[in-house]
Amino acid sequence: MAKAKKVYVCSECGEDSPKWVGKCPSCGEWNTYKEHFLAKKETLSDRRSVQKTSSSGKERPKPTILQDIKAGNTQRVSTPDGELNRVLGGGIVNGSIILIGGQPGIGKSTLLLQLAIQLPIKILYVSGEESEEQIKMRADRIGNPASECYILTETAVDKILNHSDNIEPDLIVIDSIQTLSSPLVESAPGSISQVRECANELQRYAKETDTPVFLIGHINKEGAIAGPKLLEHLVDVVLQFEGDRNHSYRILRTVKNRFGSTNELGIYEMQADGLREVPNPSELLLSQHQEILSGSGVAATMEGMRPMLLETQALVSTAVYGTPQRSATGFDLRRLSMLLAVLEKRCGIHFGANDVFLNIAGGIKSDDPALDLPIVAALISSLEDIAIPRDCCFAGEIGLSGEIRAVNRIDKRIQEANRLGFKKIFISKYNMKGLNVEEYDIEIQILAKVDELYEALFR
Ligand code: TYD
Ligand code: MG
Repeated sequence: MAKAKKVYVCSECGEDSPKWVGKCPSCGEWNTYKEHFLAKKETLSDRRSVQKTSSSGKERPKPTILQDIKAGNTQRVSTPDGELNRVLGGGIVNGSIILIGGQPGIGKSTLLLQLAIQLPIKILYVSGEESEEQIKMRADRIGNPASECYILTETAVDKILNHSDNIEPDLIVIDSIQTLSSPLVESAPGSISQVRECANELQRYAKETDTPVFLIGHINKEGAIAGPKLLEHLVDVVLQFEGDRNHSYRILRTVKNRFGSTNELGIYEMQADGLREVPNPSELLLSQHQEILSGSGVAATMEGMRPMLLETQALVSTAVYGTPQRSATGFDLRRLSMLLAVLEKRCGIHFGANDVFLNIAGGIKSDDPALDLPIVAALISSLEDIAIPRDCCFAGEIGLSGEIRAVNRIDKRIQEANRLGFKKIFISKYNMKGLNVEEYDIEIQILAKVDELYEALFR
């Protein structure tokens, strides 16, 4: 009789080890190793002899020459949500599994319930987290259903699939994968083996019936999707829903997509009646300032494939306490320190006795290198208390020796600035190669070094 084999599995990253260890050698987390029993596996040669002799069941796939494989046209269901279509690469592919991760309360359930309500097909919405009444209340806030939407509050994966066999939905939503459990596995819902087994079960179902499945996934404290890394490998698309809970903007990013690009991103605004698409984010993010104030610089950034104009705001004030403060919201603090050091060393502008606060308006986070130039402009503007004209924007990376470096997709950035009525854009001299200046109705000012910025803006 085969004896079950005992292993220890890290609940954070899924690494396993035959012995218990306090600190995971793979992800470095403490106290995450849990005991698991694996049924003894048959050996591969047992299996191959069975395959050879087995006469029942479907024919096993054989190797095929690439040229002989027919190009299937992937069927995509286009949704009423333009931003979702964009991040999915054009719509939902039949039989695909889409995982959505994000902080609690960011709006994952709202996004998918909204989809379930608006997409005019037959939908099974399974919730292991909320009661039918709670879902109904939420649905009432969002609007009238256009779809045949079944709500099921169940967590046993076999029962869910039985119901699904009866209803035969065109789309399944699971809220969330961490609440599901399979009777085949003994450990608690949310544990590695449960998540793995349930996801496998759902994947098999999706592929067999050609039904697309959305999975909502919790994330751990580092922001990665909780459960085994294997979950991300198993699914076809991984989306990340992010944003600042105190602000209403939400960003839906593609982390992995087997059917499209991972450079896409969708922008939403959370309102009292659900999530609203934001097709023109720049207009919304910029429209709020009326007066011309010092310390504000507009950045022509790219978020994935999407140009977006953001407002960076700096406040430089005399330090009251001994050690000057540095604080950044939406931007990397170390990068801010680097920029301050460059200004100090290359332009002789000193911030040593000042507190420096930096903020990207709208609760947006960005790590686009092109933000360096607008941030430096905003810093100088605040220090000198001279406002930057409102029709100017910036895009350029700053190197350690104070050089202004080229950034990617400069044409897209200039186009967007042009479209929004900006009159002048400051870019790197090294971005001019291949750029047709005549195309745009905007003045393009080139800079090679950061000290030229001061001259260009305030002299
Ligand atoms: P929810 O979808 O429950 O988040 P998640 O599933 O990611 O945990 O979103 C909850 C937040 O969104 C909640 O704090 C209330 C807010 N909300 C609105 O502002 N408007 C709405 O129409 C809805 C349904 C929720
Ligand atoms: Mg939820």
